[in-house]
Amino acid sequence: MSIQILAIESSCDETSAAVIRDGQILSNIIANQSVHEQYGGVVPELASRAHQENIVPVVDLALKKAGVTPADLSAVAVTQSPGLIGSLLVGSCFAKSMALALDVPLIGVHHMQAHVLANFIEDPKPSFPFLCLTVSGGHTQIVLCESPLQMRVIGETLDDAAGEAFDKSAKLLGLPYPGGPLIDKYARQGDPTKYKFPEPQIPGLDFSFSGLKTAILYFLQEQRAQDPAFTDHHMADVCASIQQRIITILMNKVLKATRETGIREVAIAGGVSANSGLRKALADMGGQHGWNTYIPKFEYCTDNAAMIAMAAYFKYQAGDFAALDMVPSARAEF
Ligand code: KG4
Ligand code: ZN
Repeated sequence: MSIQILAIESSCDETSAAVIRDGQILSNIIANQSVHEQYGGVVPELASRAHQENIVPVVDLALKKAGVTPADLSAVAVTQSPGLIGSLLVGSCFAKSMALALDVPLIGVHHMQAHVLANFIEDPKPSFPFLCLTVSGGHTQIVLCESPLQMRVIGETLDDAAGEAFDKSAKLLGLPYPGGPLIDKYARQGDPTKYKFPEPQIPGLDFSFSGLKTAILYFLQEQRAQDPAFTDHHMADVCASIQQRIITILMNKVLKATRETGIREVAIAGGVSANSGLRKALADMGGQHGWNTYIPKFEYCTDNAAMIAMAAYFKYQAGDFAALDMVPSARAEF
């Protein structure tokens, strides 16, 4: 009998539902929340309310698109942690109710583990052990993956996440939230060598982005004192230079991690892995150093339920189920 799982993701500002059958994604519906744009960042209370409005139609559409009825489901999975607690509660209450009503197991998924496992949705898939650079709005980690459910963080940010570095830089440039995709867009027309921003000297495999943010702030203050319209005139070059620095900070640590572990299977994951410059840098560096590299399809990089479904499929096979009194949590280690 086939294994069919409905997965729900609601950890931040995307309401998403997906259906997976025997490891194949059948549907992946994502509802974005535009309500946050005017505030320059995600407003947790508004996110929870939007999830409540979206969750029924999103789940309904995911099931319809997959051609699966609730009675066909083997389990219901949901993001348990980390994330905004109100947002997580909407998804987990819904998933628990469905699992209880259908009398099927509930599966709780770690959001960051799911980002890594997005690399298993399509071919080619990494072989174990592999390294994954997981870069999102809340996390920046180098993860050593020994098996689908055995992962270890071997390096992480000491302050801002890579996505925050993009979003905060964009804010300084007067761009709306989320700024990452916009910096990516402008950077394509710009010269990445035009302005030099500092690379922090952090020992080991950890990252830091707060110094870069301060350097960009002072740089823009100085330039705007001479030319108030500096950013309008030089947006592409500034974005390309900022993006280039964020990418070199990330990739130099990945290079170091491959040297320290001897692992040549390298993947990326998380919202920032949608960045065209980072995707190219990984492919280029992989070619240069003889790594096999893996990048999830664009729609599986930013928050989505397909990755939750993939993680749930592995957990189902391992018999790793959650109790109906499972408590979501805003923060959680692997
Ligand atoms: O994984 P994700 O969708 O949500 C979290 O779990 O945080 O990541 C969102 C982050 C945001 O900071 C957003 O600006 C960034 O990913 N992002 C990008 C791009 N697309 C999304 N950053 C740079 N370039 C992009 N193309
Ligand atoms: Zn995420």
